[in-house]
Amino acid sequence: MEALFQQYSPVALDKVTVWFKACQEHDIPENGGACVKYKNKQIALYHFKRKQKWYACQNLCPHKMEMVLSRGMLGDSEGIAKVACPMHKRTFSLETGENLNGDLPSIATFPVKVENGFVYIGFSE
Ligand code: FES
Repeated sequence: MEALFQQYSPVALDKVTVWFKACQEHDIPENGGACVKYKNKQIALYHFKRKQKWYACQNLCPHKMEMVLSRGMLGDSEGIAKVACPMHKRTFSLETGENLNGDLPSIATFPVKVENGFVYIGFSE
């Protein structure tokens, strides 16, 4: 499972080389998320409607190596969007991937853009 975790590297907006067309806007529940598969990776994609923003991160929670983050609860920590893992409520910044209530490794985050009703996730290859 550690190897699985190492598949994920965060991608900064200026490092995007591929915009993957993930789905249509209405495929993702408002203020919720869904899991999207890109090659061998599971990506959690969120429509944080209350903030008028979209976020993407690895679906793998580093606590027990469960593919569950797409089912997490969205929230806000001092203005920073965060997701709480549905299993044991560890929270992660959706901006930086940092674990906000513990010392777990950061999760990988990915840029998201919406164009003409379609949602794209940025990867670096
Ligand atoms: S598996 Fe995510 S907090 Fe435990």
